[in-house]
Amino acid sequence: MKGKVVFVSGAGSGIGKSTALKLGQLGATLILTDINDDNGSKVTQEIIDNGGAAHYYHLDVSNREAVQSLFNIISKEHKELDMAVNNAGIGGVLAPIHEVDIKDWNQMMDINLSGVFHCLQAEIQLMLANQTPGAIVNVASLAGVNGMPAGSPYSAAKHAVIGLTKSVAREYAKVGIRVNSVCPGFTETAILNGIPERFLDVNLKYYVPMNRLGKPEEIADAIAWLLSDQSSFVTGHSLYLDGGLMA
Ligand SMILES: NC(=O)c1ccc[n+]([C@@H]2O[C@H](COP(=O)([O-])OP(=O)(O)OC[C@H]3O[C@@H](n4cnc5c(N)ncnc54)[C@H](O)[C@@H]3O)[C@@H](O)[C@H]2O)c1
Repeated sequence: MKGKVVFVSGAGSGIGKSTALKLGQLGATLILTDINDDNGSKVTQEIIDNGGAAHYYHLDVSNREAVQSLFNIISKEHKELDMAVNNAGIGGVLAPIHEVDIKDWNQMMDINLSGVFHCLQAEIQLMLANQTPGAIVNVASLAGVNGMPAGSPYSAAKHAVIGLTKSVAREYAKVGIRVNSVCPGFTETAILNGIPERFLDVNLKYYVPMNRLGKPEEIADAIAWLLSDQSSFVTGHSLYLDGGLMA
């Protein structure tokens, strides 16, 4: 990763934070973004304090104009983009579909789906303009391959992220841009705060053979592998990181 310029969205917390720290250790030059500037700046400072290279920018991925202006800045200040991790996301409101409010549905689609689309499009445009081979990882979810009772908007958005990943992987394989997604199971981050403990306990006890939550560092290791040349023949893939649940 030495000298590679890598964009990460939602880098202030959880999986995005662990990914940023891991890529920082591997020598990447990081462009870190989040809507939570306190958290984003702290992660950036931690990487710099450990001898890494990182720059922080405020970015709401659901704001298309903001994404486009940031990528204009990246193109001017960093010249090229080698890799990207489209990670920012929300858990949303849990409710069965007959109770889902249209505002909650729209917010879920704006952040968890259009947010990935806006960033993915800008990343590919920059990679094509600079003729740099690239690698992109979208953070999907097991809810992107399974149904999620009381989480249909989240599940629908994540299924769509996997569809985007596969299609875009096929579109750009010939020019050397690889696009993959990761599908974490329940992972120890702030996003789980909205999920009832009883539901999580039953899941871990009966459905996850390892009987535990994933750690954000474990997801970060897989993302780093998918970005690196060690996965050079892998594209369009959705990698389960789930303690054996899908088995
Ligand atoms: N933790 C899990 O169990 C789990 C499982 C599967 C998938 N995921 C996915 O992992 C990704 C990261 O989530 P996490 O678990 O680390 O949760 P998290 O809440 O710790 O991190 C999410 C980050 O995204 C940022 N964010 C939220 N809305 C944003 C927006 N509009 N623009 C930019 N940044 C925004 C938050 O400020 C936060 O820093 C999400 O896409 C989530 O759906 C998480």
